Amino acid sequence: MEAQIKSLLPPSFSWSDQIHFFESIPSTNDHAKYLAAQGAPHGTIVIADHQSGGRGRMGRSFYSPCGQGLYMSILLRPQCHANSLMHLTCAAAVAVCNGIFRATNLLPEIKWTNDIVWQKKKLGGILTELSVNSQTGRLDYAIIGIGINCNQAPMNFPEEIRSIAASLSMALGHNINREALCASVILALDGVLNILTSRKDDILGQYKARCITLGKDISLLQGDSVIHAHATDIDGDGGLIVTLPDGTVKTVTSGEVSVRGMYGYIP
Ligand code: BTN
Repeated sequence: MEAQIKSLLPPSFSWSDQIHFFESIPSTNDHAKYLAAQGAPHGTIVIADHQSGGRGRMGRSFYSPCGQGLYMSILLRPQCHANSLMHLTCAAAVAVCNGIFRATNLLPEIKWTNDIVWQKKKLGGILTELSVNSQTGRLDYAIIGIGINCNQAPMNFPEEIRSIAASLSMALGHNINREALCASVILALDGVLNILTSRKDDILGQYKARCITLGKDISLLQGDSVIHAHATDIDGDGGLIVTLPDGTVKTVTSGEVSVRGMYGYIP
């Protein structure tokens, strides 16, 4: 898998020499963190064919069976303050959609903030983890973890997620080449990262165009409480602007959003 991915990247692509491939690993994000602590450079990529402990947001697991998905983490060392990269997960989501589109012709949608979606089912997700210098507020590193369901049939998903999960092969009607998808996502990510701050509006414009959460009634899970709201817009940092039933407008930056009619809507 590793040699094929490298052969699909341009010969001069600088990250090609920094790909760490594993047949099986607990979590590519955890290994990228380990490499970051060892001083690994910007653009270090960790890819696995299987994860025994794949992680998602909110402490959830990410189902990562052998040979069926794409599991990859990219270590970044942006030279800036953490506050200026609040939209990093949105940028990664745009890159993942563009990478999927270039490899398969399927253009997925995004459920705020980090779910990649096809026909209201989850195709994949992004787990962004930051290490910030507490003295200066500057980023030590960022890790973008990407998981995409590629060649699973419905029966391959565990029963508890079968009704809410989809794969690219389910969407397309045929298996896809994971190496080509991987190279395409890496190149799309590199492209978006090159314009991360200079063309932030462009990136967020693309994000909004794909974001199915906008215009929907949502439930916002914050701690133990559930807040109902209507999602209207994305702000300049990737936050979700919502209107509460009393007309108050609020920006949501964390927590979990359930969209009515989508997997696991909680009324
Ligand atoms: C989510 O659905 O909340 C995010 C899922 C992110 C999964 C990817 S798979 C590669 C990387 N390694 C992990 O342990 N998680 C991310």
